[in-house]
Amino acid sequence: MSSPDERVLPTVADTEGLGEELGRQLGAGDLVLLAGPLGAGKTALVRGLARGLGVQGAVTSPTFVIAREHPPSGDGPALVHVDAYRLGLAEGADVAAELDDLDLDTDLTRAVVAVEWGTGVADRLSDRAVTITLERRPDDTRLAVIRRTAPE
Ligand SMILES: Nc1ncnc2c1ncn2[C@@H]1O[C@H](COP(=O)(O)OP(=O)(O)OP(=O)(O)O)[C@@H](O)[C@H]1O
Ligand SMILES: [Mg+2]
Repeated sequence: MSSPDERVLPTVADTEGLGEELGRQLGAGDLVLLAGPLGAGKTALVRGLARGLGVQGAVTSPTFVIAREHPPSGDGPALVHVDAYRLGLAEGADVAAELDDLDLDTDLTRAVVAVEWGTGVADRLSDRAVTITLERRPDDTRLAVIRRTAPE
């Protein structure tokens, strides 16, 4: 594991911008785990991710739809956006089995999977993960701590 990067995100546009940057770097089989309290900006970051990947469909909080699928608009990967909190997944749950039960149309090996509240829950979905922890600071700006894991 490499040392974490930190990024100050003064506005929601900056959070989306970080997601967009990441989206341009990621490919099929990559996993993005999003941590941070309610309203920290996890969904905002996924909105940028979708833009960077160039996938279809508007990113919204998957409150009612547990996993939202965004097909690619070209040759790139799809995006699957999951909310582990609302899916009712506790730490140690088998998120791979839960996703399998949802019978998604998207082949996860050909997608980037982004999981809100995913740390400790969805880590096993891929051995290549980017974990972004968003902290809400007293002045309402956000601090992102970005960690990447890759196979040995
Ligand atoms: N720097 C910032 N980055 C992200 N969001 C910000 C920032 N400043 C203010 N906001 C606001 O905070 C809210 C973040 O909402 P968002 O739905 O992305 O959070 P979330 O972490 O997904 O919440 P939840 O835990 O409910 O899923 C938005 O209303 C957004 O406009
Ligand atoms: Mg959210």
